[in-house]
Amino acid sequence: MNKFFLNLGSQPLANNYLNKFNPKQIKYNLRLYFDTKTKLVSISKRIPSKKMFNNKYPYKSSMSKTMQKSFYNLSVEIKKKFNPNLLLEIGSNDGALIKNFDKNKVIGVEPCSNLAKITKKKGFKIYDEYWDFNLSKKIKKQFNKVDLIYSANTLTHISNLNDVFRSVKNLLSEDGVLIIEDPSLLECIKKSSYDQFYNEHIYVFSALSVRNLMNKFDFEIFDIKNLSTHGGSLRYYIKRKTNKKFKIKSSVKLQIKNEIKFKLNKIVAYNKFSVSAKKSKNELINIFNNLKSSNKKIIGYGATAKATTILNFCALDHDFIDYFVDTTPDKANKYMPGKKIKILKYNKKFLNNVDYIFLGAWNFQKEIFKKEKDFIKRGGKFITHVPIPRII
Ligand code: TYD
Repeated sequence: MNKFFLNLGSQPLANNYLNKFNPKQIKYNLRLYFDTKTKLVSISKRIPSKKMFNNKYPYKSSMSKTMQKSFYNLSVEIKKKFNPNLLLEIGSNDGALIKNFDKNKVIGVEPCSNLAKITKKKGFKIYDEYWDFNLSKKIKKQFNKVDLIYSANTLTHISNLNDVFRSVKNLLSEDGVLIIEDPSLLECIKKSSYDQFYNEHIYVFSALSVRNLMNKFDFEIFDIKNLSTHGGSLRYYIKRKTNKKFKIKSSVKLQIKNEIKFKLNKIVAYNKFSVSAKKSKNELINIFNNLKSSNKKIIGYGATAKATTILNFCALDHDFIDYFVDTTPDKANKYMPGKKIKILKYNKKFLNNVDYIFLGAWNFQKEIFKKEKDFIKRGGKFITHVPIPRII
């Protein structure tokens, strides 16, 4: 049974950066639900994929050193542990992972044609299509079987999970491995980071929900790794139950135990999260009000999807934040979705005369603090809302 626990208000598509501010930009009511049976946490409204993931999708994995390093390290691990003859990545984006592999040994699936183009040009085999059963059949016809299927921060965007995993099952070899990584619901709850939810993020997974989901397809999780990426993610290593090549590691039991300790299997945890999200909202607004009443100049750093949820939930607009800076070329000179706040292509000069920086990309705090030593040296401060709204 689906139980409602939080209303994040009217929210635009979080990756729909407009060239011209439009007060009538389409918004959808963002409501969060917990399924008491499957333990899956999801948003209520499902926007058609074509509206969200098309030739204008701006997010590029290679934009951050942290993500590049994470993908490189994983590629080393995959080669060492699994040495796949053929690896398929669902949501290969601009190639941050696949570029670490031999071109003959990887296939990418990337429906956003602007991104697919980047890797195609470099000679990679890319299907610029949505991942579904038909595509898995098409790939199977051409390549027979795939030994390793990997997907990071993509499956949470796809509404029909049954189709996703039916397609994986169709293509994965008998002793193949599926690796998926996505933001961790436990970390999200611990940090009150309600901004992990936006229209494109249909699900935020827990090990509990992934375990149930895998069971339906006769798959099982055999290892889990906690990662610091995207504000705390989990990497799940999954195999067929019939595959005895890999032993189930204690990490799986440990993660499930931790999630149960935080009651992620019960609605009570989500009701508590709802209270802390609203508290976080009020405290963040207070910080902005106080700083603005003493005429401080505040800008945003990292025009993230997460920031869109915050700005729209907390009703923060250009009277609080002068502009955002972001390194992504496709976001430059556009507006934060739903808000009249312009995004400027990152340049150190845009930090001049700034008193406070709101960390839209709080998940890259370390990388950003390192980069902005000068700003910190001259007394500049950061505002963040995780794990509690505060000034750093
Ligand atoms: P991301 O973490 O993927 O957040 P979301 O999934 O919520 O959109 O996006 C990070 C954004 O921050 C991306 O647009 C690039 C930007 N960024 C900078 O502008 N400068 C930086 O130094 C870093 C690390 C990121």
